[in-house]
Amino acid sequence: MTRLWFLVLLLAWDPRNSCVGYPAQEGSDLARYHNYEDMLDFMQRVHQKCPDITYLYNLTGHPDKTVEGRNLAVIVISDDPQRHEVGEPEFKYVGNMHGNEVVGRELLLDLMDYLCDEYRSGNLNIQKLVNLTRIHIMPSMNPDGWELASNQVGKKDWLIGRANAQGIDLNRNFPDLNRIAYSHEETDSENNHLLKEAVVNNNELAPETKMVIQWIIKIPFVLSANLHGGDLVANYPYDESRSGKAQEYTISPDDATFKFLAESYAEKHATMAKPHESCEMTDDDSFYKRGGITNGAEWYSVQKGMQDFNYLSSNCFEITLELGCSKFPPAADLPQYWKDNRDALLQYMWMSHIGIKGRITNKNGEPIANAIIHVKNLTNGQDIEHEITSAHDGDYWRLLVAGRYEVTACALPRYDCVSQVVTVENPEHSEAKEVSFTLPFAKKEESLDEDEGYESMSPEDRQDLDEVRQLLAKYYRNLESEN
Ligand SMILES: *[C@@H]1O[C@H](CO)[C@@H](O)[C@H](O)[C@H]1NC(C)=O
Ligand SMILES: *[C@@H]1O[C@H](CO)[C@@H](O)[C@H](O)[C@H]1NC(C)=O
Ligand SMILES: *[C@@H]1O[C@H](CO)[C@@H](O)[C@H](O)[C@H]1NC(C)=O
Ligand SMILES: [Zn+2]
Repeated sequence: MTRLWFLVLLLAWDPRNSCVGYPAQEGSDLARYHNYEDMLDFMQRVHQKCPDITYLYNLTGHPDKTVEGRNLAVIVISDDPQRHEVGEPEFKYVGNMHGNEVVGRELLLDLMDYLCDEYRSGNLNIQKLVNLTRIHIMPSMNPDGWELASNQVGKKDWLIGRANAQGIDLNRNFPDLNRIAYSHEETDSENNHLLKEAVVNNNELAPETKMVIQWIIKIPFVLSANLHGGDLVANYPYDESRSGKAQEYTISPDDATFKFLAESYAEKHATMAKPHESCEMTDDDSFYKRGGITNGAEWYSVQKGMQDFNYLSSNCFEITLELGCSKFPPAADLPQYWKDNRDALLQYMWMSHIGIKGRITNKNGEPIANAIIHVKNLTNGQDIEHEITSAHDGDYWRLLVAGRYEVTACALPRYDCVSQVVTVENPEHSEAKEVSFTLPFAKKEESLDEDEGYESMSPEDRQDLDEVRQLLAKYYRNLESEN
């Protein structure tokens, strides 16, 4: 501990850090900004302090660097951080997608350090959260933009550093899956995992966007939040309006659950859901009157954002957090931001455990990947038109608010569907209710299947992954040939 403190002090006094523009508060690592190198050092130090529950990686793939050659660095915090554990939900926080919105980046550094310290010192609630959840934290999705923003002299600009180094706004750069989803609503066709349907006319994907797309597809994330600044509100899907109007409440099939998720953050935040002054850039000063939350498109419609992309391309539910009026506040204010957000950041991670989860297997106990989990709300008799799929080990997670549901698992044509009625209660800080399924072989295939011993069953996990890889490979080949 003493050595660490010494390091912290050294870093705080390092003259390199004074170019960030705001003086660091002596001796405190919380009250200063971290440039790219400082951020990587910080993550490395957390890892060294808590090697058993942390794992560092950079996003890989093609490409594997930002425009200016930086890495998108991630720390995983979990009891078995290097691998996915069957049944354990994967969670992510992404900060600083807009390079000039910097509070989230510092909060995420604070958060990783806090989780590490509290775990070590025996905080049982934190240990439980970390043991039950695989938490991925990416403090900066746009490290190039951050450097540009922080090198501004004087008042931080509303726009400089927002985009990546090519001038691309990353939150307007994802494939537009909403248009596909909205047209499918009319024909009652596919409502999830729509990436394969995306018309590949997009030769403008930034490297940062490409890396994050591959990340979202590769890891079976359940829940996520994207941290921004400029206002104070928790924003939930859809972000893109159905009609094309600039402002229109645009309901998603999971509206009730998304509202609950956004509220879970806002309510634990020090001021988000309480009366507070509105930010000068918004004409809408009534966010707090609605509990500190807003439907994205009702506030203003955003096309090609990351939030809706998560929901429509994968099993991951994402909301967007606006952490305050100031995008680049003085460093001395950072400890207050941490105090205001800490409990909300923790509570939101617990939300990866609402609803139900389980495993889909056949009667030989072999996992079924890519099974479809459909939910009908028995309180209002309506189907929730957004299916979740099982991951490689047959495990699935279905976030839901409390209620009564009929849950149906299908893996056609090989298996028959099975339904169960469940009551979800979502007790605080406990795992999702377990609802597992054993699917019978489809009648007409039964004798065939048993004769052939299902030789193809166990590689099915891999087949799922291969499929996604092929899909992505094709996707990027198309992109390249268009360039
Ligand atoms: C991630 O990238 C940074 C910067 O290039 C590098 O220093 C670090 O070692 C990389 N981390 C891992 C886990 O590969
Ligand atoms: C978390 O897991 C660790 C390692 O398995 C164990 O020692 C610890 O008791 C667990 N803590 C809680 C609260 O479950
Ligand atoms: C189910 O229906 C009830 C009654 O309309 C509603 O209050 C609840 O939010 C719905 N649940 C979901 C998950 O949509
Ligand atoms: Zn933003």
